[in-house]
Amino acid sequence: MAKGISSVAMVEELGRSGMLGFFGAAGLPFSAVETAVDLLTGAGFPCGFNLIHSPQEPDLEKALTGLYIRKGVRLVEASAFLALTLNLVRYRTHGIHRLPDGTIVVPNRIIAKVSREELAEKFFSPPPEKLLQELVAEGAITVEQAELAGQIPLAQDITAEADSGGHTDNRPALALFPTIQSVALRMQSKYGYAVRLRAGLGGGIATPAAAAAAFAMGAAYIMTGSVNQACIESGTSDVVRQMLAETRQADVCMAPAADMFEMGITVQVMKRGTMFPMRAAKLYELYRAHDSLNDIPAAERDKLEKTFFQASLNDIWQNTRSFFLERDPRQVERAERDPKHLMALVFRWYLGQAAHWAKDGDSSRKIDYQVWCGPAMGAFNEWAKGSFLEAPARRTVSTVAMNILFGAAVLTRANILRYQGILLPAETTHAKPLEYTQIKEYLS
Ligand SMILES: Cc1cc2nc3c(=O)[nH]c(=O)nc-3n(C[C@H](O)[C@H](O)[C@H](O)COP(=O)(O)O)c2cc1C
Repeated sequence: MAKGISSVAMVEELGRSGMLGFFGAAGLPFSAVETAVDLLTGAGFPCGFNLIHSPQEPDLEKALTGLYIRKGVRLVEASAFLALTLNLVRYRTHGIHRLPDGTIVVPNRIIAKVSREELAEKFFSPPPEKLLQELVAEGAITVEQAELAGQIPLAQDITAEADSGGHTDNRPALALFPTIQSVALRMQSKYGYAVRLRAGLGGGIATPAAAAAAFAMGAAYIMTGSVNQACIESGTSDVVRQMLAETRQADVCMAPAADMFEMGITVQVMKRGTMFPMRAAKLYELYRAHDSLNDIPAAERDKLEKTFFQASLNDIWQNTRSFFLERDPRQVERAERDPKHLMALVFRWYLGQAAHWAKDGDSSRKIDYQVWCGPAMGAFNEWAKGSFLEAPARRTVSTVAMNILFGAAVLTRANILRYQGILLPAETTHAKPLEYTQIKEYLS
């Protein structure tokens, strides 16, 4: 989860409990990711780092890949890729070699998160020859390494991402997962890899029943997001955690995304207790209807300045301009030539800040909080109702994750008995929340 919402503390807690967490590197300054890498790598527990495709900021994506290679990060979660990039292939093939017995060793692993089968095919295929040759030409890998890379999948594991919090195609898990799983089987037989391709499932999972369903479909593993954000280790504010604890199934909707605003891309967010989705949609509507800030009718502009921005649009532009002069001066050059781009950058200021106001718990801006969240959150709240897990302060990520897994095992057993015709009490369809220590006792 972006901006360190999947925090160092969360990744550490999951790792120490035998689970795998990914640090939320997206949207953070390079130095913050570097600090997290230094804290987490080599600490003796499994962990990984998110690598989000950043078509708007190719230099940042390249710099992060370089960082991960330099610091010996062995696992990345690649997400939002629309096509394979040189960065991905560079990371995956770094250090590839063959043992004397012929085994190919690939030190760097990628778990790709996708919601489309075309992309799953690409990740389950060997890295494209053209990209391998580019790496050979620049001296990043040898000819022999390129030849070895032609025998491995770019990613051995793919997480099928169904309807989720944040960026999502809103695909139903029941339809998506079998498709990605059959791509895995097809690519396994096409390439005859020495390793087995695996498909996991994420999106909508926050209860034992959903996890049991995922495993019943054959998921190799499950992945959660929204419910983790509601846990005490997440890098958000207590006020957001409280709002998440009150979220119900239908309290989420799609809203314009800050990073791909101009393209009309949306993200799934919380709508209860915040006007962000409506305000962001209004900004997109204005962006579509006008060619510049000056074209917006005076009354409308006045309303924006008083309510959404709480400052003059000129001041916001000056602020945005200074930000981009440091981060990406090309944006400023373009905005000064193209007033529609300037308007987009100003509107994106609101969308970007709305996420910070939420994360920082800025009480003066509660009505504008942007909180990425999927329907899984409401499902979890309903399941946890009446138990100790109803209180946000009791939601530790390991307790929540262990309950989902342990509960899935209980439900699966109950289902096996039901399939044999054994009539079970109604409560067996609901695995009750348990304390972490109780689960540990059951398992020992
Ligand atoms: C607050 C939040 C931030 C997220 N940020 C990212 C991100 O930076 N990169 C990414 O690959 N996925 C991101 N996601 C998606 C999650 O990693 C995960 O795929 C998704 O939440 C799983 O679905 P669920 O929300 O139904 O559990 C984010 C999700 C949330 C809720």
